Amino acid sequence: MRNPILVTGGTGTLGRVVVQRLLDAGRDVRVLSRRPRSAAAGHEWATGDLRTGDGVDAATSGVDAIVHCATTLNKEDVAATQRLVDSARRSGDPHLVFISIVGIDRVPLPYYRAKLEVEERVVGSELPWTILRTTQFHDLVVRMITAQRWSPVIGVPAGVDYQPIDVREVAERLVELAVGAPAGRVPDMGGPEIRSHRDLARAYLAATGRRRIVLPVPLPGAVVTAFRRGGHLAPEQAVGRVTFDEFLAEQGR
Ligand SMILES: NC(=O)c1ccc[n+]([C@@H]2O[C@H](COP(=O)([O-])OP(=O)(O)OC[C@H]3O[C@@H](n4cnc5c(N)ncnc54)[C@H](OP(=O)(O)O)[C@@H]3O)[C@@H](O)[C@H]2O)c1
Repeated sequence: MRNPILVTGGTGTLGRVVVQRLLDAGRDVRVLSRRPRSAAAGHEWATGDLRTGDGVDAATSGVDAIVHCATTLNKEDVAATQRLVDSARRSGDPHLVFISIVGIDRVPLPYYRAKLEVEERVVGSELPWTILRTTQFHDLVVRMITAQRWSPVIGVPAGVDYQPIDVREVAERLVELAVGAPAGRVPDMGGPEIRSHRDLARAYLAATGRRRIVLPVPLPGAVVTAFRRGGHLAPEQAVGRVTFDEFLAEQGR
């Protein structure tokens, strides 16, 4: 008999889609979330917090695999993941699948440094593991642009490109990996097109009928320099199919 697959962050942008894809594939799913069970959830639910460890043992108990999509969005991710790993080891030998980001070893952003350390914890976990790195999700690009929606001018870092990918394609790959044998670090996944931040902002404005000035701003610093050099891009792995324009059109934005 097959045991459930635990999805940490199963309420998030990526995790929600992973959960649905696993259910579609006929797998039992358990979600770990800090929130109480959602009334609409047609699967198991474990309320818990990776920051404190509360509820984590109940979440990892008896699972075949863990798709680790939760993030605290800061360096606490390292301790949170270690808590998950320790709990998973107490529970048995589940396959730990981790979603990471292309270029975390090239762009010196504090969040990326933490992510790299999380990867190291996964590799050193003594659990069977798989790590997939992807480029930025379309949703994140939209969030970066809409963060300035009240301003008549949208500032974008000059010379920075993105290669956004559709979260459904990432979820599809994670599900394939989670139900398969542990594969270690698998090839990176990048979106289908590399476009400037300015161009993506303009595409968003055109698709949503908004009129704003998009202003490229030359920004100093090692992080922006690394982004300008394309450290976060995967031009050789442009395997995503859904373009940013198609994503916007589908969302009715
Ligand atoms: N966004 C991108 O462009 C991108 C690109 C490549 C890789 N990734 C990686 O993909 C993963 C998912 O990203 P996302 O954009 O889907 O994230 P998200 O929408 O921000 O979701 C974060 C999830 O983490 C959970 N979470 C946060 N703190 C937690 C805690 N203390 N204990 C338990 N759960 C906690 C949240 O669940 P509750 O609020 O329900 O507790 C939520 O479901 C992240 O690791 C991210 O780094 C993202």
